[in-house]
Amino acid sequence: MKIRPFRLSDLKPISRLEREAFGPHSFDTLSLLSYGIFSRGGFLVAEEDGQVAAHCITKRTGRNSWEIASIAVRLEYRRRGIGTALLTEAFQLFRSRGGREATLEVKVDNRDAQRLYERFGFSVKERLHGYYGPRHDGFLMVADLSESQTPKSPP
Ligand SMILES: CC(C)(COP(=O)(O)OP(=O)(O)OC[C@H]1O[C@@H](n2cnc3c(N)ncnc32)[C@H](O)[C@@H]1OP(=O)(O)O)[C@@H](O)C(=O)NCCC(=O)NCCS
Repeated sequence: MKIRPFRLSDLKPISRLEREAFGPHSFDTLSLLSYGIFSRGGFLVAEEDGQVAAHCITKRTGRNSWEIASIAVRLEYRRRGIGTALLTEAFQLFRSRGGREATLEVKVDNRDAQRLYERFGFSVKERLHGYYGPRHDGFLMVADLSESQTPKSPP
């Protein structure tokens, strides 16, 4: 597995992966392209055997704050540590650019993703009522990057 920055030829497979993972809440092609152009190395792609297996899109939201705007691993590649590797890389990037805080939004019922985030020091800061549509709440999760967090080993 190799992690590298986004390139234009990733647009189609990543659009597909976004739709597969998030359905109506996925980023459209134009948004992905603009992240690809403006994210300054913060759009990470995990490759397996020359194919896109996963991506992680990050966004600077303030002087010292960053957001995980999207992370998704293709179904057949999940539970192999790719999500962990992408977040590890993203955290390194945030810290190398002076980041002190990372945030993200996640569906309240997405326990798989929340467990991964908790291992990186994320905790729920706020419940976002109706964030994913009527009766579909989200959590705003926050991690303090100044703490020397390394992902905790799975139980
Ligand atoms: C959430 C998501 C990104 C996690 O990606 P992943 O690559 O499966 O994550 P990891 O493999 O690093 O960790 C996931 C689990 O696999 C386990 N795992 C990691 N490496 C493993 C290995 N080699 N063998 C077996 N299990 C392994 C981890 O311990 C972890 O277990 P747990 O969370 O059940 O305790 C992925 O499930 C996904 O794309 N979901 C759909 C999109 C989504 O919901 N994104 C988040 C939106 S906020």
